[in-house]
Amino acid sequence: MANKKDVRILLLGDPGVGKTSLILSLVSEEFPEEVPAKAEEITIPADVTPERVPTHIVDYTSQEENEECMNEEILKECRLMSYAFVYSVFDEDTIERITTHWLPYLQKTLGGEHRTPVILVGNKTDLLDFSTMESMMPIMNDFAEVETCVECSAKTLKNISEMFYYAQKAVLHPTAPVYNPEEKE
Ligand code: GTP
Repeated sequence: MANKKDVRILLLGDPGVGKTSLILSLVSEEFPEEVPAKAEEITIPADVTPERVPTHIVDYTSQEENEECMNEEILKECRLMSYAFVYSVFDEDTIERITTHWLPYLQKTLGGEHRTPVILVGNKTDLLDFSTMESMMPIMNDFAEVETCVECSAKTLKNISEMFYYAQKAVLHPTAPVYNPEEKE
């Protein structure tokens, strides 16, 4: 079980963006051809994480779970929590839903001024030969809780360990101000 000294990373995002595949690719270092609806919660022991902190990675499946379960996960008591919002770089709708659904949803659940770090994860870069990073930059300006954005591919394993490291780093060394006096529009 996570305690307050552990890092907890919760992967959220639209159906089919590859949340479960990302976790399984990290664990087994190969792309899973068969993907279960949800990966078991995994714990990475402190000595194999760059920051030497036990890290729990939690999958969320849009298939089985309802909003109540999701809120429970989101609100789980853990001091060192970060959210990885996954989208598919190949599916514009999932990119749009980061700002129209997921970030507002988190603000609604945690409170508008929450500063629990979020990283944005663009998966499936193997399907695209250009980067969508530029279109994510305005989101980082508009939502102070967004620490960083990373593109990766569960299929080719590109940036997989980096992605989890960024999520861990976001919570241990956040760069966003704890208190942002500027009102957002
Ligand atoms: P839900 O459980 O429905 O929320 O989906 P999920 O976000 O966990 O996605 P899942 O890992 O089940 O992957 C959905 C589909 O995308 C599967 O067919 C995967 O094989 C495929 N997929 C996942 N990651 C990648 C990737 O990096 N590249 C490609 N080409 N396909 C991927």
